[in-house]
Amino acid sequence: MTGDELEITMKDILAPVYVRLYYHVWPQGVLGRWSKIENRGKETIVVEQAESATWNLPPRSSYELSSLTGRWATEWQLQTEALHPGAKVLESRRGSTSHQANPWFAIGSKGETTETAGPVWFGELGWSGSWRFTVEQTASERVRITGGTNPFDFSYPLAGGAALETPRFYGGYTSKGQGEASRILHRFQKAEILPQRPTPKVRPVIFNSWEATEFAVDEKSQVALAEKAAKLGVERMVIDDGWFGQRNSDFAGLGDWTVNAKKFPNGLKPMIDKVHALGMDFGIWVEPEMVNPDSDLYRKHPEWAMNFPGRPRSESRNQLLLNLAREDVRQYVFNFLDKLVSENDIAFLKWDYNRNWSEPGWDAVPLDQQKEIYVKFVDNLYGILADLRAKHPKLEIESCSGGGGRVDLGILRYTDEVWPSDNTDALDRLVIQDGFTRAYSPNLMMAWVTDVQSGPGHRFIPLSFRFLVAMSGSLGIGGDLNKWSAEDMTLAKEYTAFYKQVRPTVQLGELHRLMAPEGSETSAVQYVSADGKAAVVFAYLHSQHYWRPFPMVRLEGLSPTAMYRVVPLDAKKVPGVAMEVNGSQLMGEGIQFNLRGDYDAAAVRLERIR
Ligand code: DGJ
Repeated sequence: MTGDELEITMKDILAPVYVRLYYHVWPQGVLGRWSKIENRGKETIVVEQAESATWNLPPRSSYELSSLTGRWATEWQLQTEALHPGAKVLESRRGSTSHQANPWFAIGSKGETTETAGPVWFGELGWSGSWRFTVEQTASERVRITGGTNPFDFSYPLAGGAALETPRFYGGYTSKGQGEASRILHRFQKAEILPQRPTPKVRPVIFNSWEATEFAVDEKSQVALAEKAAKLGVERMVIDDGWFGQRNSDFAGLGDWTVNAKKFPNGLKPMIDKVHALGMDFGIWVEPEMVNPDSDLYRKHPEWAMNFPGRPRSESRNQLLLNLAREDVRQYVFNFLDKLVSENDIAFLKWDYNRNWSEPGWDAVPLDQQKEIYVKFVDNLYGILADLRAKHPKLEIESCSGGGGRVDLGILRYTDEVWPSDNTDALDRLVIQDGFTRAYSPNLMMAWVTDVQSGPGHRFIPLSFRFLVAMSGSLGIGGDLNKWSAEDMTLAKEYTAFYKQVRPTVQLGELHRLMAPEGSETSAVQYVSADGKAAVVFAYLHSQHYWRPFPMVRLEGLSPTAMYRVVPLDAKKVPGVAMEVNGSQLMGEGIQFNLRGDYDAAAVRLERIR
């Protein structure tokens, strides 16, 4: 045992096979468990299943499991269900983390656990490949949660002297409810997991071109958008898909990471220089693990695609996966990214990944090693990210994955933020963001303001509401600024300026989910800075019925004896609020917001004055 880490070595009673169990405690109240299986004999052994940890809960009949499930564009849906004798499986068999389920769980006690009180046991896995949690209630009402890499289609040969280390499974407990369980995870992620740990910087306000120009990017269109974005106070211009190879639609070009000379006859430099001259830094989209069959890379290296020889290769979004488990593919991917970032002044990569595995064959290695693909693919992904960051220490990266498909504590060691969902409809986003923050910190949660017609709901949501939803995470703008009116631009500038004032509190403070959005007319969130000196509240009226007044919003996490100055973004929305209010009143009675009709929202910030 050294410091905060305990290591237990166990040996099989017959074979020279050792398992080292590692336990690490972190000051935020999180315990990590993982193991290393070592073959100290001469004969090869085959590992068919390797779990990271089992959490055993005390006997109780009232356990309720919360999990996050969904599908593309409907990620982060919170499910809560009673546990019964038998096993409940949450998993991904898709080769990566998945949109369908996230490797997070929280177990509370029915009738006892709420957002603000009661016991919660929670956990989260650090692995970006196929994973599995088995939540099992025994006949004697004991509950155990076992998690790790998914044993589905898995096998990993260990030659004499070889070892396999499992991913880390992190767990914790609080008696203070679901909100505190989330806050423990948020603190832990910021202090111990993220690349900028222990003190991540605030995320910049970005503009992303995807919804404005899709594949039709070129120097002129991007510079025009950048000029408008800069006027709003945007700090980072991100050019999305379409800048490379023959990428004019999703049918071609993936794998050919050279600048498209028709769209950028002078390369990327003039555009990047212009973005810098406008006072912003520059980011660019990549999807490194993929290849379109219609690409020079595929024509040259068809064997690099993941496949079972002689069998069809299923395409999804017209693309195939490169087999990143291969060293030559790893080198290719690292080299093109390194070249791109070395030759251009790039501050940020939006790292996309838009399909699941379907035929995970790897015929270049002997049959008994082919299933190592499940581990080696992910290890090489982490290796590329680590090497890239080591060589380019200022580079920041987003794990995009079609929105929400690769969010876990494995990838988050190498990426600074994530794209939670391709669904940017502000009303849907409220639920998506509520689910997301159960498991992950708000500073990771990139949130764009897009145009009204871009969401699946196709509903008219005012720009102010769209902004206030996105401002409760890491603010981005993704609408077509060419179509925004002068009034839209004025509002966007004002709201962006307000966001910058509250950003350290939103991103690096403590989140309190005051009123949940799912199935409700109203919702509200609050953030309190770590030093308690600042707070911000966002209140949302989704759709008003029967002239019902917006309920009083009672705040949390303030000092009852301190005085706070209350500064609304729009004073008309909080007419009755006093300029100076004490903490006990804000928490006991609350703030009354004057919100009406459909999609009305407001924000206030609080400064502790004494
Ligand atoms: C999926 C991403 O989530 C979108 O934001 C966009 O980058 C597209 N891919 C581009 O192909």
